[in-house]
Amino acid sequence: MKRILLSVPHMSGEEEAWVHEAFASNWLSTTGPNLDAFERAIEQRTGVPAVALSSGTAAIHLGLRALGVGPGDRVFCSTLTFVASCNPIRYLGAEPVFLDSERSSWNLDPNVLEDALRRCANRGRLPRALVVVHLYGQCADMDPILSLCRQYGVRVLEDAAEALGATYKGRPAGALGDAGVFSFNGNKIITTTGGGMLVSPHAELIDRARFWSQQARDAGKAYQHSETGYNYRMSNVLAGIGLGQLAVLDIRIQQRRAIAFRYRDAFANSPGITFMPQAPYGLHTNWLSCFLIDQRELGFSRDALIHKLDEANIEARPVWKPMHLQPLYAGCEVYGGAVAEDLFRSGICLPSSSSLSSEEQLYVIDTFRTAVGTAVATTTIAAD
Ligand SMILES: Cc1ncc(COP(=O)(O)O)c(C=O)c1O
Repeated sequence: MKRILLSVPHMSGEEEAWVHEAFASNWLSTTGPNLDAFERAIEQRTGVPAVALSSGTAAIHLGLRALGVGPGDRVFCSTLTFVASCNPIRYLGAEPVFLDSERSSWNLDPNVLEDALRRCANRGRLPRALVVVHLYGQCADMDPILSLCRQYGVRVLEDAAEALGATYKGRPAGALGDAGVFSFNGNKIITTTGGGMLVSPHAELIDRARFWSQQARDAGKAYQHSETGYNYRMSNVLAGIGLGQLAVLDIRIQQRRAIAFRYRDAFANSPGITFMPQAPYGLHTNWLSCFLIDQRELGFSRDALIHKLDEANIEARPVWKPMHLQPLYAGCEVYGGAVAEDLFRSGICLPSSSSLSSEEQLYVIDTFRTAVGTAVATTTIAAD
């Protein structure tokens, strides 16, 4: 059997027409109608202005710069995340301060945030901004987070790289704070092969980011520059892929959710395996299907399981390693951390591609069960 990967691109079939259009019209550059249309489509979906960029990481970089982060600043960041959430803090000469997760969503714990803000305010060392991550397709509990940040004058950037299409109390992920970021990396729920988007309710912030993303060239014909810019714009060809992908985003969400819930149902009677919580306040896209493994109950460690699955040609991965445990960020301040460490130690991500067939998923489930030695009951999976 072909190797079953964690999360692969899944085209709608419409993408090539947009790419062809870019070639036919010779808009083979970082300007053009696909790019405009892709930004408008994201604006329609989120309700706020957007600029298309070369990656989610670039979007975090420009978003933080536009929120005023600079040398010597401190920036709060969820510790349980991928490293791209906080590397841009360092690009700007600032230092990250890491905050723990809550068990109920795996995302930033508002109580930890409150404690950290109070203690930093007492020391006169409040952060300039917060990067709050919406992990694996689920929003953090944004109401208390936004209200605390408002109270202390801290700007909020939502890292929604993994959460395009998720909602919080009916509102779209990414459009809740001062700025939001999406990724169209090849492993995401929709992809442009590589790319990102910065959104914000503050139109002038998007204008600044657009200016910096094109080398910050001053108005006028001469190549005059007063600020440092970057080459961070998305290509018009790739925006065409994005248009074809965005048209099926809601279908992809349904497919990813169906996969996650099939795993949940299949493992419902297996002690020692727990489904990632689905917080009641919003729609979790279940970009990745994540579980916690209790080694004592299951009789198998998370890593031994990953190894067994790998031998059967199935790719599974650990949950993100918290940033406060990374050699790169050793010595950074951290508030709490034990919850994120526990989620990392026992968390596993199973194959979650929206194109995963019922047979492939059944193979993953049976391999998993055989590995942990539980009886392989016949699993009935409804056809797609
Ligand atoms: C939480 C998180 N933040 C940021 C990124 C960076 O996005 P990109 O790969 O588009 O730079 C990713 C994914 O790659 C991510 O998972």
